[in-house]
Amino acid sequence: MPASKDEKNIEKKVESLRATIRHHEYLYHVLDQPEISDQEFDKLLRQLKDLEAEHPSLITPDSPTQRVGGKPREGFVKVAHSSPMLSLDNTYSEDELRAWERRVHELSGRKDIDYVCELKLDGMSLALIYEDGKLVRGITRGDGSVGEDVTLNVRTVHSIPLSIDRDRLKKAGIPADFETRGELLMPTAAFKKLNAEREQAGLATFANPRNFTAGTVRQLDASITAQRRLDFFPYILLQDGRTYFDRHWETLTALEQAGFKVNRNRKLVHSMDEVWDFIQEWEAKRESLPYEIDGIVVKVDRTGLQDELGFTGKAPRWAIAYKYAARGGVTQLENIRWQTGRTGKLTPVAELAPIAIGGTTVRNATLHNMDEIERLGVKVGDWVRVERGGDVIPKVVAVDQDHPRGKEDIDPPKECTVCHTKPVRTEGEVDYRCVNANCPAKLMGTILHFASRGVMNIDGMGESLVTQLIERGMVKNVADIYDLTKRDLLSLERFADKSAQNILDEIENSKKLPLERVIYGLGIRMVGERTAQFLAEHFGSMEAIKNASVEELQNVGEVGPKIAESIAEFFGNAANQKLVERLRKASLTMEGQKKRRGTKLAGKTFVLTGTLAHFTRDEAKKLIEDAGGKVTGSVSKKTDYVVAGADAGSKLDKAKELGVAVIDEKVMEKLAG
Ligand code: IVH
Repeated sequence: MPASKDEKNIEKKVESLRATIRHHEYLYHVLDQPEISDQEFDKLLRQLKDLEAEHPSLITPDSPTQRVGGKPREGFVKVAHSSPMLSLDNTYSEDELRAWERRVHELSGRKDIDYVCELKLDGMSLALIYEDGKLVRGITRGDGSVGEDVTLNVRTVHSIPLSIDRDRLKKAGIPADFETRGELLMPTAAFKKLNAEREQAGLATFANPRNFTAGTVRQLDASITAQRRLDFFPYILLQDGRTYFDRHWETLTALEQAGFKVNRNRKLVHSMDEVWDFIQEWEAKRESLPYEIDGIVVKVDRTGLQDELGFTGKAPRWAIAYKYAARGGVTQLENIRWQTGRTGKLTPVAELAPIAIGGTTVRNATLHNMDEIERLGVKVGDWVRVERGGDVIPKVVAVDQDHPRGKEDIDPPKECTVCHTKPVRTEGEVDYRCVNANCPAKLMGTILHFASRGVMNIDGMGESLVTQLIERGMVKNVADIYDLTKRDLLSLERFADKSAQNILDEIENSKKLPLERVIYGLGIRMVGERTAQFLAEHFGSMEAIKNASVEELQNVGEVGPKIAESIAEFFGNAANQKLVERLRKASLTMEGQKKRRGTKLAGKTFVLTGTLAHFTRDEAKKLIEDAGGKVTGSVSKKTDYVVAGADAGSKLDKAKELGVAVIDEKVMEKLAG
C-alpha cells in the first residue's frame, strides 16, 4: 500500500530530527564541543522518541533513540573476524626500539621510512562492522579469530556513530561497507566514580579501567553498558579484511572525517629520533590524560610496506609497542589477610616482602576479590608484580613467571578475621561479607569514618586509639564517643592528662559541626558527603529525614530509589533510631537551615586548582554549590569550568588539553551571581 502524504512527511521529519541529533552527538561526544545545552539536546531526543512511539514502524536500529540497551540476553553469539585481530610485540627500551627499526630497514631494503606514532590506549580492542554506512555489528577480539557479538552494547557508546551518511563517507574516501577496529576504554574519572559508587553500594570493585571496560561491554543487559560511559578510539580501517588506504596516516584522517573519535595525540614522523621524542613527550604527559595509556604504538606509515613486512606469529612486523615502565616492582607474596571493611566486605590483602616503589615502602597490596585471585592464578609464595597508580592502593597485577612458583592455594575466607563469623557470598556477587552487625571490624571502620577530618573531625581519634577503645569495650557505636570521660582515656596506653584533654576538646568541638556532617557520619549505605548535604538542605532536620517516606526522600536532588531505600532502611532500624537519639542527647547538631539552592550554575561542573587570592577552597566550593553548581576533583570533558589560582598545575594543563574553559576567581564570582 503506498504511503500517504502524511506518513511521508512524518518520515521526513523523523529523519531530519535524527540528522540533527547525530550532529549534536558528534559535537559533544567526539569533538567535546557541544553547541547546545544538555536540556536542549534532551528535548530533541524526546521529540524523536515521541514521534517514534506514535509511529513504531519508523524505528530503525541506527536511530539515536536506540542507544539504550535492550532486553537482557542469554549469552553472546560467537562470530568470526574478517581477518585475524592481531596483537603487538612489545619493547621496553630505546635500544630495542632501534633494533626493531634496523629489522624494518633490513627486510624492506629501505631507510627512508615514515612512522605514525599513536598512544597505546589501555582498553580492549573492538571491531565494528558498517554496512551501507550503518553500524551492523560490534565484535570483541576474543581469541583473535573468533570474537563475541556485542553489537547491542557498543550501540550504547556515544562516540560510536550508529550511522554515517553517504556524502560524509564519500568525502572521507571511505567505502559504504567497511570495518574499523580500535580501542574501547573507560575514562579514568568515570572509572573512579563508578568504582566508588560500587564500593559505597557494597558491590565488587574493578582493579583497573581495562577490566571495568571488559566487564561493561560484556554485560548481557546492555542497559547497564549504557549507564557507564565508555569511549571508542579507532585506528584501523578495513574493507573485506584488508587495509584500505595506502598510508596509515590517511586512515586516521579519513576516520576522523567520517565522524569517529580518532585520538588526536598522534604524529606522522620521518625518523626514529622523532619517534623517541614523541615517546618521551608522552611519558611526561601521560598523567594529564583523561584515560590510561601504557605506552606508544609505532607503525610503518605506508601500507604497501606493511604488506611487505608481514607478520610473525600473532603480531605485525610493521608495528611495535613501546611500553612505559609502570610504577611497580616484583616481590614475594608472603601471606593473605582477609580484611573486613566498614561495609563488612572482606578484601584479600597480599602481605608482601617489603619493596620500594616510587619513594615509599610497600608491604601490602590489594587482590580485590576471589575472582581476581583466580584470574591471576596467584598462590602464596609466588613472586608477584605489584603496581601503584597515582592515588590508588598498590595492587598485585600479575604472577612473575621467572621465579619458582608458590605452592599454597588461596582459599576463600572461612571466617571474618576479626569476629570469626562465617562470611557469606550472596549469589551473583563476587565479594564475601561479614554479616555480623556487631563485628568490631565494621565498628572500627564506622568509628574511623565518623571521626575523620571531612566528617566529625575528631583529630587524634585514629586507628590506635579506636582499636583500644573497641578492645576495652568502651566504644560500641559512635554515640559512645560522647560518653567518654577523662578517666576512661587515662586508663589507655600512652595517654597523659594533656593528650586526654585534647581528645575531649576535639570531641566537644565536633558537636558544633553542622547537620550534614552528622548525617554523613552515620555511615548510611550510599550516602556520601554530597547526598548528606542535599538531605540536610532539603529537610532541615534529622527528625524530618527520619520521618520521610521513600517517595519523599526521592524529591531530594540526586537521591534515586536505591539511595532512598537505603536511607529509609537505616532510620527504620530500632538500634539506629536509638543511636540517633543518643547523639541528639549528646547535643550534636540535629537541625539545619532549609535551603533552596540557586539555579544560576545548575548543571555546571567546576574544578578548583591552585591558590585563590580571596577565597579558601571551601569558600569557593560553597559559593559554587550555593548557586546550584557542582565541584569535582578532577578535570574531564564533562567539566564546564576550571577555576585556576596561583601555581595551578596539572589540572590546568589538562583543562587546556581538553579545551575546558579556564576562568579566574573574579569570573567565578560573576557567574555565581
Ligand atoms: S594497533 C595489528 N594501535 O594494544 C595492529 N593497538 O598490545 C594491532 N592498542 O590488541 C593493534 N592502542 O588492543 C594498536 N594505537 C593503538 C593501540 C593499540 C592500544 C591495543 C590493542 C592491541 C594491543 C596490543
